[in-house]
Amino acid sequence: METLRMLVDNSNSEISYSQAVDLLNRGEVVAFPTETVYGLGAVATNELAVKKIFEAKGRPSDNPLIVHIGTIDEVPNYIEEIPDVAKKLMDCFWPGPLTLIMQAKKGKLASNVTAGLSTVGLRMPNHEVALRLLRKLRKPVAAPSANRSGKPSPTKAVHVEEDLQGRIPLILDGGATGLGIESTVLDVTVTPPVILRPGGVTKEMLEQVIGKVILPTKEQQKLDSTPKAPGMKYTHYAPNAPVYLIDLNKKEVEQALRKLKECGHKVALLAPSSYQDLKADYFFSYGSEENKEQMSAKLYDDLRACDKTEASIILATTTTTEGVGAAIMNRLEKAAGSKWYKNEE
Ligand code: TXA
Ligand code: MG
Repeated sequence: METLRMLVDNSNSEISYSQAVDLLNRGEVVAFPTETVYGLGAVATNELAVKKIFEAKGRPSDNPLIVHIGTIDEVPNYIEEIPDVAKKLMDCFWPGPLTLIMQAKKGKLASNVTAGLSTVGLRMPNHEVALRLLRKLRKPVAAPSANRSGKPSPTKAVHVEEDLQGRIPLILDGGATGLGIESTVLDVTVTPPVILRPGGVTKEMLEQVIGKVILPTKEQQKLDSTPKAPGMKYTHYAPNAPVYLIDLNKKEVEQALRKLKECGHKVALLAPSSYQDLKADYFFSYGSEENKEQMSAKLYDDLRACDKTEASIILATTTTTEGVGAAIMNRLEKAAGSKWYKNEE
């Protein structure tokens, strides 16, 4: 299959949208940008189309998909009973990077979308291309991130091309996504609601609207009683070389680089721009040290860039878990498989 990449910010946009709509209506998959990462979409009521998402990504079939909608009015079509907290959150944060897990109406969506669960995750993305596509199609679109399973999510159309070239017919290219990490996934079937995956809409932001929200600690996540996103048990966001986290401390990083090079390693360093003068073999900047938004926007591009080097090890500096830092650290921990580099005392 040939994969077409079509720009959607120029005069032939209408052709691109109608081609995407046609393909989706014919049961094919299409990649498109959202404000978080690129998604790989299929009509969420078409079981065979949804199956193609799992095949193209190499995604385990027990990992349910998020359903994207173009207007809040569509929610009652798919949800049994909309909790009051969900209504408040939709009013505040939709369109936006917040996925709400609610009880699904039976028989409305293809069963492979929810991987057999009684709940479904809904979100209304805040991106012109995604919204125009959804509103022209007028159908719900199931869409996971448009990467091969296990790889960092795509924040540019070329990332989708790298992973899914030859496996999907069309990529709508809307340039780089803004936020760069996936939506917050919030389970509102329980009280208080539980964050299954931290994202751009932070715990602090949610609590201002609905009061107490739980963001489980790593210890709590291990308990059977803690609600979980089925997907979070799988390896994620991983470049080819092993990733090690390291404290944001220039002296520590300098010492680590020296040690690793002595052992014959080629080291890729992901760190704020002020670390560029350290002698890493490859350097990828998160942007300025204080700017977490810049860091989240660049993180996956940086992780992917490591695969184009000959690095045998990747060191990634960390950040605090304030605000969107919680989501960044969640993704970095996953990318590293929780490995930390510690200099010997
Ligand atoms: O920003 C995003 O959310 C992007 C864009 C494309 O919208 N999508 C995305 O989808 O990140 P995906 O499939 O890569 O991640 C969805 C996560 C998975 O961890 C999945 O297990 C969880 O949401 N999830 C989906 N439905 C769920 C459900 N009913 N209950 C619990 N977790 C669910
Ligand atoms: Mg994903």
